[in-house]
Amino acid sequence: MRRVLGLLFLGVVTAHAATHSPTLGARLALHGLGSIRACADCHGPQGQGRPHFAYPKLAGLGFTYLLGALRSFSDGRRLNGIMTPIARELTAEEMRAVATYYARFRPRPPHGVRPGERLRLARGRRYYDHGDMNDRLVACARCHGRRGQGMGRRFPWIAGQTEAYVKEQLRSFRAGSRRGPGIGLMRDAARPLDARQIDDIALYVSVLGAWPPLSIPIERLPMPPIVPRRTFVPPRRDAIPRTVFGRAVRRGRAIFDHTARYARPYVGNALSCSDCHLGEGREAQAGPLWAATVLFPRAYRGHMTTLAARIQAAFIQSENGRAPPLDGPVLTDLLAYAHWMSRGEVIGAHAPGRGYPPITKPGKGADAARGAALYVQRCAVCHGGRGEGARYNGRVVFPPVWGPLSFGQRASLAQTSVMAAFLKSTMPYADPGTLTSGAAYDLAAFLEARPRPP
Ligand code: HEC
Ligand code: HEC
Ligand code: HEC
Ligand code: HEC
Repeated sequence: MRRVLGLLFLGVVTAHAATHSPTLGARLALHGLGSIRACADCHGPQGQGRPHFAYPKLAGLGFTYLLGALRSFSDGRRLNGIMTPIARELTAEEMRAVATYYARFRPRPPHGVRPGERLRLARGRRYYDHGDMNDRLVACARCHGRRGQGMGRRFPWIAGQTEAYVKEQLRSFRAGSRRGPGIGLMRDAARPLDARQIDDIALYVSVLGAWPPLSIPIERLPMPPIVPRRTFVPPRRDAIPRTVFGRAVRRGRAIFDHTARYARPYVGNALSCSDCHLGEGREAQAGPLWAATVLFPRAYRGHMTTLAARIQAAFIQSENGRAPPLDGPVLTDLLAYAHWMSRGEVIGAHAPGRGYPPITKPGKGADAARGAALYVQRCAVCHGGRGEGARYNGRVVFPPVWGPLSFGQRASLAQTSVMAAFLKSTMPYADPGTLTSGAAYDLAAFLEARPRPP
């Protein structure tokens, strides 16, 4: 999914059906309702924002982020003179409706580059891509992705956002006046920035995602290629049926995504299944559940295993807990989720995108000391200097990678080759595919030598 995100900028997704449909969301957005002003006055009918004001684009942000932003304006976690009063007037239903309306649009390609801006753009790009170790400035790309495409539900898409808005957000993150539904990480990221850096970075963010790529000198810096892969696409999240089976599927998804919360008796650490099987188990090359499901029953470590037994093993080893009973609700719901997700996949097929693509071990062998240095540079910003991860409001936002709340020594991920393959395909989060195989092995060797539960 994230590997094809660049394609988003190719165009606007069908706007016509949306703007003419008489839904609540469209009415609110285009005409307002009672005393609520039309969102389109400031954000545009297709969410393209107003470039000359600090009115942000809403296109591209996605339903969850839009709804979260509206909620936090209305409950005061994010204060703004214009948006807070508007959001306070919206009912929960109206928020969902208008978030649904704007979620269907894609950002339009941003404006081209004016000649006088090249130097500023080059500086902006350097900060964005690489940060600045002397200033303790963390690269924006670490969390928002090289192309500003954002990642998952935690890191918003920012590519092509209006320049004035990005500037204003960076200033208010720096001042601590925007807190928001996110994880407070932006405050630390923005603190070291001075006014000129903010201007340069905002300009760069506003042209990010220009497609085809801009022909300017900074273009010479390598960008990871975007290669769409043909893999199975699991059913859409909103296609879960409203039946007894569907309710089990929803519970199963919740367990998969928040394992310690919904399967507490069987979990002994801080990890959720989706911390290692990314994107709720949907993502190709990142341990997708749909590819696993259709291969069971099969041989595993020399014995025939069912999917249920494999999941029990995951609880014991990866979750450092104990096996939920075969006929109990936890396992039944997880199996329902796995089966729903695999609809349309061929039974017994070795699907492309299964597991984590294996990589070859570099000839010179893995070096844990090099891994330790790499960890500090590329991983500690999220997983912590002591591998402890990070929590916000009591919820795990970055999982621990060693220590008592991590996975156990017998977990699949504790094998160096599996860890190296996992890292190469998925980490650093939001910027995957940027580790060489050697670096992935060095990091795996370092992580293998850290203390973790037996
Ligand atoms: C008078 C202009 C105006 C109107 C009308 C308006 N907005 Fe906004 N909106 C803004 C501004 C300014 C911001 C930036 C707030 C900030 O700096 O935090 C914003 C921010 C937002 C954000 C957060 C975007 C982000 O990237 O985090 C959302 C979501 C949003 N508006 C939705 C709406 C919806 C839905 C409506 C209609 C019900 C609406 N707005 C009406 C001016 C407006
Ligand atoms: C350690 C991770 C991290 C780093 C580094 C980081 N960000 Fe963010 N950023 C986030 C998160 C998380 C949010 C969402 C915050 C929220 O919703 O309150 C965010 C939000 C934003 C927003 C607001 C988006 C919106 O729609 O309102 C902008 C703009 C932004 N970041 C730009 C940057 C820039 C520019 C840099 C580099 C100077 C940067 N970020 C570095 C994690 C990060
Ligand atoms: C610490 C990381 C981690 C956690 C947490 C984790 N897993 Fe896994 N899981 C793995 C790895 C690594 C593999 C092996 C993949 C391979 O060898 O290609 C795996 C394999 C599996 C498989 C077999 C996959 C296949 O393609 O054959 C299933 C099914 C599975 N896990 C389910 C779960 C469930 C359900 C949970 C939560 C209860 C969970 N896992 C938690 C890392 C994890
Ligand atoms: C921008 C933040 C970020 C960075 C940087 C990052 N990770 Fe992660 N990492 C995550 C998140 C978030 C997850 C959980 C995946 C999910 O929820 O989708 C994760 C999951 C993991 C996991 C599996 C779960 C666990 O806790 O064992 C390992 C191992 C891991 N990361 C190692 C690394 C290594 C090594 C690096 C450096 C190359 C790295 N990460 C860089 C955010 C990050």
